[in-house]
Amino acid sequence: PALQNLAGRNVMITAGPTREPLDPVRYISNHSSGKMGFAIAKAASAAGANVTLVAGPVSLSTPANCSRIDVVTADDMLSACEKLTPSTDIFISTAAVADYKASTIADNKIKKTGDELTLTFIKNPDILAKISGRPDRPFCVGFAAESQHVEDYARSKLVKKKLDMIAANDITVDGLGFNSDKNALHVIWKDGDKRFPATSKNELAEQLVALIAERFALSNKS
Ligand code: C5P
Repeated sequence: PALQNLAGRNVMITAGPTREPLDPVRYISNHSSGKMGFAIAKAASAAGANVTLVAGPVSLSTPANCSRIDVVTADDMLSACEKLTPSTDIFISTAAVADYKASTIADNKIKKTGDELTLTFIKNPDILAKISGRPDRPFCVGFAAESQHVEDYARSKLVKKKLDMIAANDITVDGLGFNSDKNALHVIWKDGDKRFPATSKNELAEQLVALIAERFALSNKS
């Protein structure tokens, strides 16, 4: 059995993509599978935490003993997270939230008229930044999927989003990350960092959860 180093702690995890409607039959989304977030939920639960997964549209079954709230859009995901925050000790944000949503959702199916179609998008809320900016903020862990300057971009997100830790991965490495069963992470916090080499998402989740538990215990949130 795993070390019960998160015994009784309430852990909220966002996972998967969000899906932003364009009209009654269409949406924009991304290829996030939700695998990393679900693996972290499983590992946190095995470490004794009470886990709530806030999941976008994914085709994964809920890990044993985890609660799950299904959401579709970024706005829905934010509302669910805001409700859970007062009782959350640790927030782990793995969701690939759509950066933009349609500025208006068409009431009726958009017809194919002209040879070109222009849609206007507006920015979605940054769920992680909103939660970490609250006075009752939990210990916040973000993810940064980057294709270049991985460490620099991750460090700037750590500061900008006021995070306790950030887990960065290089999405250009073949066979790792998005939609894959394997991943590698470089985890960074204010005064330290740790590299986890490529392995299965389940194995990686266990290592990451152990590190989060260690850093959380040393924080003023524990
Ligand atoms: O800015 P970027 O999307 O790279 O930041 C990634 C981190 O922020 C991830 O932890 C992701 O779950 C979170 N995020 C969020 N809401 C957004 C965009 C990103 O929670 N709208």
